Amino acid sequence: MKIIVVSTPEKGAEEAFKVFENAHKNGAQVFGLATGSSPIGLYELLVKSDLDFSDRVSVNLDEYVELAGSDPQSYKYFMEEHLFHMKPFKESYLPNGLAEDASAEEARYNKILAANPVDLQLLGIGSNAHIGFNEPGTPFDIQTHKVKLTDETIEANKRFFEREEDVPKYAYSMGLKSIMDAKEIVLVAFGENKAQAVEDMINGPITEDVPASILQKHPNVTVIVDQAAASQLSKEV
Ligand code: GLP
Repeated sequence: MKIIVVSTPEKGAEEAFKVFENAHKNGAQVFGLATGSSPIGLYELLVKSDLDFSDRVSVNLDEYVELAGSDPQSYKYFMEEHLFHMKPFKESYLPNGLAEDASAEEARYNKILAANPVDLQLLGIGSNAHIGFNEPGTPFDIQTHKVKLTDETIEANKRFFEREEDVPKYAYSMGLKSIMDAKEIVLVAFGENKAQAVEDMINGPITEDVPASILQKHPNVTVIVDQAAASQLSKEV
């Protein structure tokens, strides 16, 4: 793992932008994208840049179950608002939160991933070290799946909703195997509430209790953290 410690989230976004720019220049066709507050600075830089994605494909990590793409809390809406409206891709895929048959939706998304192998996958990390919506205890060898969100994740995500009971309880997420299949991965994490998860991911044992720890086995991962998120690191980087 390559670890880059920056002074501010803005500087982190600049580092993540460089990774995207390089991948784009080197011909990356498929970009795995993420939601959450962590990637927003990167998306702003992508929008301002002259990088053209209109001949590239994006696939998103996850989507809430039971939210339509037109719902402002859906990840589809988030992506449109922060990136796709201003920087369109040839094709942009997300799981369909309204799919009635979960196993058919999982199979559909796995087929999309098989047809569009991810060149560069962007990740954030949850405070419990989840990536995508792969919560602690998720098997490492799993592909796209319907996930029951943990109380901790519901608690963390409620800031985006008017009422806690509005926060969806389920989501579709690419699995850990799907994420590990990407040729290159860049993970961004900012703030003190990510510090323990970042330490466990980088220096802890590789265990399904810490979903992000599987990234230690990936040959090409860059982790970009600010000083607060790096504050629990037990080894010098
Ligand atoms: C959500 C998303 C994750 C994201 C995480 C952290 O649970 N499913 O993909 O990494 O939140 O979000 P934030 O960047 O807002 O801290």
